[in-house]
Amino acid sequence: MQIRREGPVWTLYKEKTPIGSARLEEGALWVEIDPAWRRRGYGSYLVKELLRAHGGLDPKAETRFTAPLPADEAARALAAKFDFRPDGDKLVRRRVPDLSAVGLCHEFLTAHLAPGGFYIDATCGNGHDTEFLCRLAGPSGRVLALDIQLRAVETTNARLAAAGLGAVGRAVVADHARLGELAAPGSADCVLFNFGWLPGADHQVHSTAAGSLPALQAALELLKPRGILAAVLYSGQVIGDGEKQAALAFFRSLPLTRYTVLVCEFANWAHTAPLPCFILKR
Ligand SMILES: C[S@@+](CC[C@H](N)C(=O)[O-])C[C@H]1O[C@@H](n2cnc3c(N)ncnc32)[C@H](O)[C@@H]1O
Repeated sequence: MQIRREGPVWTLYKEKTPIGSARLEEGALWVEIDPAWRRRGYGSYLVKELLRAHGGLDPKAETRFTAPLPADEAARALAAKFDFRPDGDKLVRRRVPDLSAVGLCHEFLTAHLAPGGFYIDATCGNGHDTEFLCRLAGPSGRVLALDIQLRAVETTNARLAAAGLGAVGRAVVADHARLGELAAPGSADCVLFNFGWLPGADHQVHSTAAGSLPALQAALELLKPRGILAAVLYSGQVIGDGEKQAALAFFRSLPLTRYTVLVCEFANWAHTAPLPCFILKR
């Protein structure tokens, strides 16, 4: 099986015989499969590849495609398989990005932090969160990022340099258990923890309660009044449940007079789903 592309037209060949074609123009999808080859998965294959090439399978992208109303049962089944639904005189497929724990954290921080602040990324990893914080801080802000692994720090600094954010943020190798030594008490507007392991590296190297609890305690000391601690907690086969439960017990023990504690469970996901938490200092 092979797809050949000529301009917007994609033709599917079985050996040397064309058995179907599809095209996508201005978001409108047209598919035609030879009746002799219908209902065998060829249409699905073609549509999937076309959608993939145009971002339609990216869970982080917002996309909208249309298609003509189906002419027969086979076309109806194919359209339904890819979530095309009747909308007036056509079919429409809309996708909004899935909400993730980290995405929720970013949305929350975007809504509650002003540019120009001092933000700390206590687990910089591959630098996605650091880059996010740098963009939020803007040119008048400052971001300190740390990670226990040199590779993570190098990746983060390279990412910031490539994005032109090297003047806003900097990553250093440090254990967040020693966070209290890296900034003055009451100086930070936000401290972000995205616990766990470094994606793409050895999963056995991950955060643990022994380092995370002192780090969370130190982070609260570093926050200004009205500052925010954000933490994404993980559990599962490799990482176990100890760090998550210890962090939750710590959060729940914080005095109501000084902190507001939010634990934002995705209640219909698996119990091991990442758990975003926010501590708002009064
Ligand atoms: C899930 S990753 C963070 C993802 C990252 N924020 C990003 O945007 O790519 C968790 C990171 O925490 C780091 N880490 C684990 N224990 C640590 C510790 N005690 N101190 C500092 N960083 C630690 C790991 O090395 C790993 O890179």
